[in-house]
Amino acid sequence: MHSVYPAAPTGTPAVCEAPPTHGRVRCVPTLLIVHHTPSPNCQALLEAVVAGATTPEIEGVRVVRRAALSATASDVLEADGYVLGTPANLGYMSGALKHFFDQIYYPCLDETRGRPFGYYVHGGNDVTGAVRAVEAVTTGLGWRRAADAVAVTGEPAKADTQACWELGATIAAGLMPGV
Ligand SMILES: Cc1cc2nc3c(=O)[nH]c(=O)nc-3n(C[C@H](O)[C@H](O)[C@H](O)COP(=O)(O)O)c2cc1C
Repeated sequence: MHSVYPAAPTGTPAVCEAPPTHGRVRCVPTLLIVHHTPSPNCQALLEAVVAGATTPEIEGVRVVRRAALSATASDVLEADGYVLGTPANLGYMSGALKHFFDQIYYPCLDETRGRPFGYYVHGGNDVTGAVRAVEAVTTGLGWRRAADAVAVTGEPAKADTQACWELGATIAAGLMPGV
């Protein structure tokens, strides 16, 4: 089941009256979190990102989280910024996140260029290849990295979840109306 955090701010119409822009109805700025979360350690990082992105100081930003295997090109086109989360698998990003990029790359290439993003990678001992892979595909898409990458191995320490909190908060804050 997809989750949406938080609900649109009170007073924001459920259906926007503004005309669509390139097929997109602009309601509130949207942060899309696309993640592959196969373990409790990955879950801890994801939850920290969500907590940062939905902290009360951030107003007027809708946060949508999608498992990488269910995220669609429409999700990407309808969002304004992105956080990606993946384990390192066999020296690369997870197959699930790779599948996500395979699905959305060409449908989103022209429309999403320049949009802000950030990412976290979790691994057992060496996330170098996964970091390189995420950097390569996002460079291809023309996305703009707007927060430091977070690379974590083993059980996340407090500093790791804090870094993920800041990752979520930074990308979401950059989408706030008027920022
Ligand atoms: C098939 C497979 C390949 C993996 N390859 C890597 C790898 O290249 N580098 C790495 O640091 N961890 C690797 N791992 C470990 C995963 O990144 C790790 O299991 C995942 O982030 C979940 O972390 P956890 O098991 O500590 O909860 C691999 C795990 C699996 C199952």
